[in-house]
Amino acid sequence: MRLADRMSLLKTENSFVVLAKANQLEREGRSIIHLEIGDTDFDTPSNIINVVCDEVSSGNTHYCPSAGVLELREACCDWIKKNKRGEYSPEEIVIGPGGKPFLYYTIMATSGVGDEVIYPDPGFPVYESVTLYAGAKPVPLPILEENDFKFTIDDLKSRISKNTRLLILNYPHNPTGGTLSYKELVEIGNLAIENDFVILSDEVYANMLFEGNHVSIGTLDGMRERTILLETFSKTYAMTGWRLGFIAAPSWLSDPLSQLITNSVSCVPPFVQMAGVEALNGEQADSIKMMTEFKKRRDVFINGLNSIDGISCKFPEGAFYAFPNVSEIPMSAEKLSDYLLDEVGVATLPGSAFGQYADNHLRMCFANSIENLEEAIHRISHAISTFS
Ligand SMILES: Cc1ncc(COP(=O)(O)O)c(C=O)c1O
Repeated sequence: MRLADRMSLLKTENSFVVLAKANQLEREGRSIIHLEIGDTDFDTPSNIINVVCDEVSSGNTHYCPSAGVLELREACCDWIKKNKRGEYSPEEIVIGPGGKPFLYYTIMATSGVGDEVIYPDPGFPVYESVTLYAGAKPVPLPILEENDFKFTIDDLKSRISKNTRLLILNYPHNPTGGTLSYKELVEIGNLAIENDFVILSDEVYANMLFEGNHVSIGTLDGMRERTILLETFSKTYAMTGWRLGFIAAPSWLSDPLSQLITNSVSCVPPFVQMAGVEALNGEQADSIKMMTEFKKRRDVFINGLNSIDGISCKFPEGAFYAFPNVSEIPMSAEKLSDYLLDEVGVATLPGSAFGQYADNHLRMCFANSIENLEEAIHRISHAISTFS
């Protein structure tokens, strides 16, 4: 008996590995501060939860259209338009079980053997893993601290070839918190048009931009027809475990993704989708409060990190991750990450979990209480002082 060869190409996502280890330590009675995974300590707002309860008890528990229920597809169009991120019709929206499946579906639908996919490095690990699985060539685009955690247009140009099928953008960016300016987006868009490739615009942190305004690349001239806008309910509405996300794209791109939903999960539970309608159309106060709170937490946590000898950390412009440089600490970031978990119960991820260009960094999610963040700073500082 044997597995298909392609299975050896899939990689894992380290945050789930560290989460499992941290949970195990917790079960053994250790006190752990969880900074490893991109989840928040906020509960899903109660108006959203109430809808799902009503929907389930009223029997909305059967199959529904693969691309999503009309009410949610309409709500997505209104929400995207209200947020000035483009104009779409419900037929151009596909609802899926979270944002992540659309990374898989998009890469599978656009790229295969002989094709190339350019993606940010460091970046969300699935970009590279699924590109390999699809048989395409991964082309990492360095996002470096010395360039304010942006890629340069020259670096992008030098990676485009006649085989480029897809460019994945992610802004605000996980793990660095960097983002892209309007001018950069225009230059990227022009390159996409000249070289005729598709853009997957992973904008799942767009509502978590601490400075400036977010511009969706699909709204730029000539870009709508080649852009897939990716969004999720996970981050903006604290719904990570619900598994609900969506894409907006012209039908030549959205129809194949909908077909992939039919061929994999059939549909997202309709009661979850109706909760999504409430998330987008209902009271936004809880979501806005969370985003304001993340900014306060960012300031406390980054200032705290910068007060520790050997650590320097830029203020992320968006998303809820700190990406400190730990190169002055006499231990590799990978070892340091293990050490912090084992010795003082602070769960983090090493930069190497996100690619080849961020070996000197740790990633820590600051969507945690100020009390826990301050305790984490205290523990990290203590751990480092014991071996420096
Ligand atoms: C950059 C990026 N894209 C996509 C996703 C996937 O989101 P979801 O949890 O909704 O699948 C994440 C989740 O952390 C992410 O960080």
